[in-house]
Amino acid sequence: MARRKLVYEGKAKIMYEGPEPGTMVQYFKDDATAFNAEKKAVIDGKGVLNNRLSEFFMVGLGNIGVPTHFIKRLNMREQLIRACEIIPLEIIVRNVAAGSLSTRLGIEEGTALPRPIIEFCYKDDKLGDPLVAEEHIIAFGWASQQDLDDIVALALRVNDFLSGCMLAVGIKLVDFKIEVGRVWDNDFQRLILADEISPDSCRLWDIETGKKLDKDVFRRDLGSLTDAYTEVARRLGVLPNNSGPVTRPTLIN
Ligand code: TMP
Repeated sequence: MARRKLVYEGKAKIMYEGPEPGTMVQYFKDDATAFNAEKKAVIDGKGVLNNRLSEFFMVGLGNIGVPTHFIKRLNMREQLIRACEIIPLEIIVRNVAAGSLSTRLGIEEGTALPRPIIEFCYKDDKLGDPLVAEEHIIAFGWASQQDLDDIVALALRVNDFLSGCMLAVGIKLVDFKIEVGRVWDNDFQRLILADEISPDSCRLWDIETGKKLDKDVFRRDLGSLTDAYTEVARRLGVLPNNSGPVTRPTLIN
């Protein structure tokens, strides 16, 4: 059998060339990293959970008309996606102060924000993904003003959808990060939601107890990351309630 071509290996995912032109296969690894890969671990089952959860959110967003890269899940760790040119920005939406916003501005974690705040970071591991302003983005040509307007509108739709999904299962969506890519339909450029949406890229707190159900469990050594992600998947109905601990055998397809 011909070996497929690896296009790019990141910290948590690998991208392979897809079966048709314009497609790619996105493979979810079990690797967890934090603080720009200063902290690393392999967490059994994380890739399987994130593949399923990202599918769940991307399909839901697609159903309300948000364009995404997701085509279909292929197996436990892989999904077929539309190839796109990733805009080199991490787009962060915050509803509640936490993480780097709290550190940077001295706002206590858990403080509700008066409105959703959108931040942009320039995607560059060597620089540690620095926070940038719209001025930098436009001046350096990473995206146009029109792209930014479209990105903000898209990010707010994703925020409304994800906040609702989470609220329905007793979880507060504190903040999250998305990435956006460009695709071309003939001569027209469109922006689509790319990368992943999973507890790796969100902050999720139990509404009643405040318990963290996201990657901060790993960043801050708060317990089992797999248990936290399994809890999110169970509440959303992505995993049956009676399934055992999430390791490989639990998720067959
Ligand atoms: P921050 O508070 O550390 O800036 O993180 C904001 C949100 O972005 C949080 O939900 C976690 C997510 N995030 C990523 O997805 N990747 C990253 O590399 C970082 C630093 C944060």
